[in-house]
Amino acid sequence: MRKGILLAGGTGSRLYPLTNNINKHLLPIYNKPMIYYSLSVLMLAGIREILIISTNESLPKFKDHFGDGDRLGVSISYDQQDAPNGIPEALLIGEKFIDGSPVALLLGDNIFFGAGLGSRLQNVHDGKNATIFCHEVKDPHRYGVVNLRKNGTIENIVEKPANPQSNYAVTGLYFYPNDAPELARKLEPSDRGELEITDLNNLYLEQGRLNLENLSRGFSWHDAGTESALLDASNFVAAIEKRQSLWIGCIEEIAWIMGWIDKKQIKEYSDKIKNSTYGKYLQSLIAENQ
Ligand code: G1P
Repeated sequence: MRKGILLAGGTGSRLYPLTNNINKHLLPIYNKPMIYYSLSVLMLAGIREILIISTNESLPKFKDHFGDGDRLGVSISYDQQDAPNGIPEALLIGEKFIDGSPVALLLGDNIFFGAGLGSRLQNVHDGKNATIFCHEVKDPHRYGVVNLRKNGTIENIVEKPANPQSNYAVTGLYFYPNDAPELARKLEPSDRGELEITDLNNLYLEQGRLNLENLSRGFSWHDAGTESALLDASNFVAAIEKRQSLWIGCIEEIAWIMGWIDKKQIKEYSDKIKNSTYGKYLQSLIAENQ
């Protein structure tokens, strides 16, 4: 069974003073903390064993939100990243948790939306290959960029190129086979002093073991790492939720849809927060399904 690692560490220095005393992944995206959106993606992928990695100061706050995951019908454990040493370090910190399973690694500031996302992710096969997910963007220089050959195969991936050769950004969701920690151990820090996830993906590419899933038109992806991206993501969620009666990133709803918790558990939780729109949304869900 694939396990999931949610990386929610870092200093959030690009967002100071917003992140002076709050972890970036707990900042609001419209009506929910940012991490709800990434957690919901792992859940939609059918992943029930989840490790949240964050800093020592922030871990208690995440534990406050999610506990051991029981109220969501999943198992959540926690581990610590002492310094922002790069994304692949999560695979080394989480090696014991991974324990020889395939693993999905997701950055806590990535927000995905699109019809059929869950089943698309559930259909990614484990096997020996890694899978990256790309999305066409206007500002590829901010991301890892995938260059494709004419026949659609991957030529290479370049981290934050000054002159991007394509518009395909690598999103912060990576599916790896069980040897990911072993390969991550081979990486050397880059010029910015971090282990780079792009280097790990290029290792898989060199071994002919990297698949690409294109989240094309009809999907939306935000990396909420800058103040304007925060606002864009909030506006996006608000626009969808105000227009439709369905919410994005409501983790209790997803747990319920997945069949991991029942109506009684939703009621118990929503009673505690019934003054908020979030609590009211949960109550409306169970009322509709009497
Ligand atoms: C990281 C990765 C980059 C990827 C991005 C997605 O960037 O290094 O390849 O495209 O996440 O969110 P960073 O958050 O380190 O700027």
